[in-house]
Amino acid sequence: MYSDKVMDHFTNPRNVGELDSPDGVGEVGNARCGDIMRIYLKVENDVIVDVKFKTFGCGAAIASSSMATELIKGKTIDEALLITNKAVTQALDGLPPVKLHCSVLAEEAIQKAISDYKEKQKSKVGA
Ligand code: FES
Repeated sequence: MYSDKVMDHFTNPRNVGELDSPDGVGEVGNARCGDIMRIYLKVENDVIVDVKFKTFGCGAAIASSSMATELIKGKTIDEALLITNKAVTQALDGLPPVKLHCSVLAEEAIQKAISDYKEKQKSKVGA
């Protein structure tokens, strides 16, 4: 049912944890299953230099967050904004249709963390 990549990222997730004083944080949840995902970003010169995640959720959500963090690490903010749930799913060699919403959570968490980063930048400029 699950690809080797999904199983690998589920059993050995990359970038788990939190960041001290992150530049952006995004938390999203799925009301149906109750799963929650949080992504922390460290950004320097508009490049994501570090990223961590905490996911309270199903195996597919954990694998999706792990893969998503790998995909955005080292990318610019603009590049990271282009990462869709489809890209996450493809990088995982697919997810069962009933589990596609788990990868959507990863896309949403990235988007939210980036908009949090942008908001913080704005308030810094205004300060
Ligand atoms: Fe909810 Fe996977 S079942 S995120």
